Amino acid sequence: MATFTDGQHTIYHGDALSILTSEQIPDATVDLVFADPPYNIGKHFNDRRDKWPSEEAYYTWVSCWLDLCVRKLKPTGSLYVMCATQCFASFDLLLRQRLTVLSRIVWHYDSSGVQAKRHFGSLWEPIFHCVKDPKHYTFNADDILVEAKTGAQRKLIDYRKPVPTQYNTKKVPGNAWYFPRVRYRMPEYEQHPAQKPISLLERIIAASSNPKDIVLDPFAGTFTAARTAANLNRRSASIEIDEEYVKIGIRRLELAAEYKGKRLHQPLKSYEAGYSSESKNLTLFE
Ligand SMILES: C[S@@+](CC[C@H](N)C(=O)[O-])C[C@H]1O[C@@H](n2cnc3c(N)ncnc32)[C@H](O)[C@@H]1O
Repeated sequence: MATFTDGQHTIYHGDALSILTSEQIPDATVDLVFADPPYNIGKHFNDRRDKWPSEEAYYTWVSCWLDLCVRKLKPTGSLYVMCATQCFASFDLLLRQRLTVLSRIVWHYDSSGVQAKRHFGSLWEPIFHCVKDPKHYTFNADDILVEAKTGAQRKLIDYRKPVPTQYNTKKVPGNAWYFPRVRYRMPEYEQHPAQKPISLLERIIAASSNPKDIVLDPFAGTFTAARTAANLNRRSASIEIDEEYVKIGIRRLELAAEYKGKRLHQPLKSYEAGYSSESKNLTLFE
């Protein structure tokens, strides 16, 4: 197990359960957990397949890291968890046994690719927003306001008020969020099958943490949560088991220019000068 840090952002290369039990991240010190675990749907994260021998085995594993994440949270802390749509109900139960669920958010997106032909293809993922103490938690409503769409061309006036008043033009987002998925041509794109967009993490981190707070991501992948935390002047602790993804994290968080003596850089896109099909699979090294 290796760690990489600049004092503000730390990457733990290893298994989330071992690192969370090792107490390298002390209990009750984290302000916000964002957990986007393997969904148990058979995706390949490099040479690891995201499939447990049974549903029971998967939920036993989920319960273990959830307990550890709850232990890491401060009494005022918040936890967001993502899961597969088919796991929605079970995650709801597991979370309600440990925390207060404030919102069940639907992250929806569009897909240009071929969708299912014999059922309704899945175009959304669940996100649970939970807190330890429903009376004391961070929620920076003013930092995440969105346009309040009325459908009208001009500003609407509420004539039912004693003094006619213009309707609010801004509101806190509801629990159905639209953010496009990360596409190949987007500058933030990395080679990972489950990368989440920075725009999604911006809303979560801006709402549920304050500058200098600590954001913990136990399944970091491409380190979107940590990168966004850095952009918003938060600190971060991230865990990732796969070395290739850890290299992405070191580069995205600018913790080092090299890894094991080789320069880290973002792979060229197929339409960029210098790209060749031989270099297609060389993800990070020259
Ligand atoms: C759904 S992806 C996370 C994607 C991430 N949110 C992003 O935006 O890129 C889950 C990640 O968990 C990692 N992972 C799987 N099992 C793990 C474990 N036991 N400990 C730590 N990381 C693990 C996988 O390698 C994968 O990168």
